[in-house]
Amino acid sequence: MAAHILRHALIDRIFHWLTAACVLVLMATAFLPILGIKFSWVTIHWATGVVLGIAVLIHVVRALVFQRATAIWVSPRDLGEGLSNLKAALSPAGRAIKPGKYSLAQKSMHLLVTILILAVLVTGGLMMVRVDTPFWERNPYWLTEAQWGTVYVLHGLAALTLVTTIMLHIYFALRPEKLCYTRSMIKGWLTESEREKNHDIQRW
Ligand code: HEM
Ligand code: HEM
Repeated sequence: MAAHILRHALIDRIFHWLTAACVLVLMATAFLPILGIKFSWVTIHWATGVVLGIAVLIHVVRALVFQRATAIWVSPRDLGEGLSNLKAALSPAGRAIKPGKYSLAQKSMHLLVTILILAVLVTGGLMMVRVDTPFWERNPYWLTEAQWGTVYVLHGLAALTLVTTIMLHIYFALRPEKLCYTRSMIKGWLTESEREKNHDIQRW
């Protein structure tokens, strides 16, 4: 049997699928009522947002303390390599460069999702001041009308951008040449030859 290389530890896989489920529930509770399917969505929506927020907080602490924080961040070198790979795809003279653990596309996806999720979490947290919870009573006058307007626009804009981003993410996850990564997000591993083919082992 081919040797297996661990790509995502169990705790990271649980984190991915928990956050994915949260984001899909958040989208369903946000957009189904707008499409005409009415139900009392607010409590499910904010409670799921709280779960997502806690999961992201744990992920950030784990990433910064226990993982290589630089593994997934886009660096100037990645952009240079991206350009090289574009040239290689367009002309026979170009030279293709294999990435380390994460490709430029995977890093860009992580960066975009990070920006968008942090934006919805911060604005959503502020919007919580306006709903009754077991912990406090609603206070719609905490910010001015104009300030609330900005918060709502940012929340909606980030949420809509997330829809497109995640559609693309799922599309690529299901493409035949990327299915090995989907398996790695379920079972944890890539085979030695899958890693050899797509990554620079020195920089993994
Ligand atoms: C400032 C915020 C964040 C930091 C510092 C951070 C850091 C990292 C790092 C360093 C890795 C690579 C771990 C490795 O493979 O060695 C990673 C992976 C990942 N991140 Fe983040 N991240 C942040 C925000 C987010 C957010 C908001 C999400 C989505 C809700 C997210 C989802 C993921 C996923 C699914 C992975 C792949 C799982 C794995 O570690 O194997 N991250 N992150
Ligand atoms: C339900 C369908 C989904 C599938 C099939 C899926 C699949 C995957 C796979 C296969 C990877 C690993 C890529 C790698 O090994 O580098 C991954 C990573 C990641 N996923 Fe998902 N995912 C889904 C939903 C989501 C949702 C809803 C979010 C939003 C929070 C999300 C955020 C991320 C992030 C930030 C990463 C790390 C960046 C990357 O490697 O592309 N995923 N996902």
